Amino acid sequence: MNVLRVESQPFEGQKPGTSGLRKKVRVFETPGYLENFVQSIFNTLGDCSGQALVIGGDGRYYNRVAIQTILRMAVANGFTRLIVGQGGLLSTPAASCVIRKYATRGGIVLSASHNPGGPDEDFGIKFNGDNGGPATEGVTDAIWQASKEIDHYLTLESLDVDLDRLGESRLEGAVIEVIDPVADYADQMEALFDFPKMSALVRNPKFRLCFDAMHAVTGPYAREIFENRLGARPGSVVNADPKEDFGGGHPDPNMVHAHELVALMNGDDPMDFGAASDGDGDRNMVMGSGFYINPCDSLAVLAANAHLVPGYRDGLAGVARSMPTSRAVDRVARELGIDCYETPTGWKFFGNLMDAGRITLCGEESFGTGSDHLREKDGLWAVLFWLNIVAEEAKPASEIVRDHWQRFGRDYFSRHDFEGIDSDAATRMIATLEEKLDTLPGQTFAGLTVESADSFSYRDPVDDSVSTGQGLRLFFNNGGRVVMRLSGTGTSGAALRVYYDLYQVDPALLGQPAQVALAGLIDAADEVAGIRKYTGREAPDVIT
Ligand code: G1P
Ligand code: ZN
Repeated sequence: MNVLRVESQPFEGQKPGTSGLRKKVRVFETPGYLENFVQSIFNTLGDCSGQALVIGGDGRYYNRVAIQTILRMAVANGFTRLIVGQGGLLSTPAASCVIRKYATRGGIVLSASHNPGGPDEDFGIKFNGDNGGPATEGVTDAIWQASKEIDHYLTLESLDVDLDRLGESRLEGAVIEVIDPVADYADQMEALFDFPKMSALVRNPKFRLCFDAMHAVTGPYAREIFENRLGARPGSVVNADPKEDFGGGHPDPNMVHAHELVALMNGDDPMDFGAASDGDGDRNMVMGSGFYINPCDSLAVLAANAHLVPGYRDGLAGVARSMPTSRAVDRVARELGIDCYETPTGWKFFGNLMDAGRITLCGEESFGTGSDHLREKDGLWAVLFWLNIVAEEAKPASEIVRDHWQRFGRDYFSRHDFEGIDSDAATRMIATLEEKLDTLPGQTFAGLTVESADSFSYRDPVDDSVSTGQGLRLFFNNGGRVVMRLSGTGTSGAALRVYYDLYQVDPALLGQPAQVALAGLIDAADEVAGIRKYTGREAPDVIT
């Protein structure tokens, strides 16, 4: 084989964040930058000879270029079977599905999730292990170490692989297999959910459904599942063609960025069921007619109704949520008599719990919901789960949520994001608050008294690894909680996230706007941490 050894030197800052390495495209275009990181992954894996690897991405700008580079390097490093999604596409959950189905050594997924795409925007790369899930912290730390010691990478001199033609070809001695990115995933969905019942619902002319793929990777998946397999009216899936720049939009399914869907669902003649997904297809937002479903509530409702869905009929082993996610699912777990785990932010912390059979469902407030059917959060899966429940209960989604609140109480929740703020100021704000945490209990801010405060750390019950500094938590005497942390997925400046939640059982007070119900906590947080002062902002950039 014609392997080329290229001398190289470490680049600063190749430490994977919450979900892989994310940088501006321009940074990835620096000669050797992508190569160094990919070689660091392979060096961490050790001997790759004779192994199989899955490669695909969300179709954003630079996806195809990166895939050609990675294919050459993978073959030069000894991989003999490369499974690639046609057109270079694989949604994050589909990549997880394919890694598991074909029992490969793992996969490389190219995505910066919901961050905008294009020559001046973001790109990203992450490694998933043989369980199909994001590399654990141990592995990402080892990759980072390797990136600091790298002195060469291995590649080939070869022509580009045709990523558009399905089927097998050869690159030196290795087999390149271009697969349909949708089929395996769609088959898995069909095995989990009651497609005949859901099909009857979506074929009913009185039921109107809209799925907004936001010009991102889920378009082809959603078309195949909703329109071809379930028989929804053609056109039910909108913005369905993946674009390199996501049509200039911000492919993040929330009330701000999914404004097209929000307008359809909240207009004069609203649809019955609406949903959207993000750049790489792992996030979801579900809406009923004129009704937004908070992701924390969504997780709780799915857990409470899982027995209605064929794939979960036998019950749940346990559930988990990230720490900033509201405690709504904890209440369901208590009633079901199952364990509920509280993990740091980021999907990688759920993998061990699923592999050990401790949990079936899990989720994050950041529009991420999933189960042990694979090892990533899964946007379309969550939407199908909801559709299955709506079909089974023959009730609108909004009624299902309101019934849930009546039964369990409501955990009001909101997250305030302050984006692109000065990194130093953000770090100083968090450090200052952290220093005085011990002194806060007993003190009153904007009329609310702090009962306890800490910096969240997590001991993984499966491998005993410890993750510290995972967010500052303040618990108040009204039962409310405020969490503050800095984002680990940004590519410029810092983003401060402030999470608020408050439990309410009074049936008369279950229908307030979240910002009204949480106003006291919001004032208290500003007073205790100086949010406006440090960020220089009067209001958050995004409220979810
Ligand atoms: C954000 C979300 C987090 C999610 C991650 C990847 O990370 O808050 O829940 O797992 O994106 O989708 P953050 O930017 O907060 O570090
Ligand atoms: Zn994503």
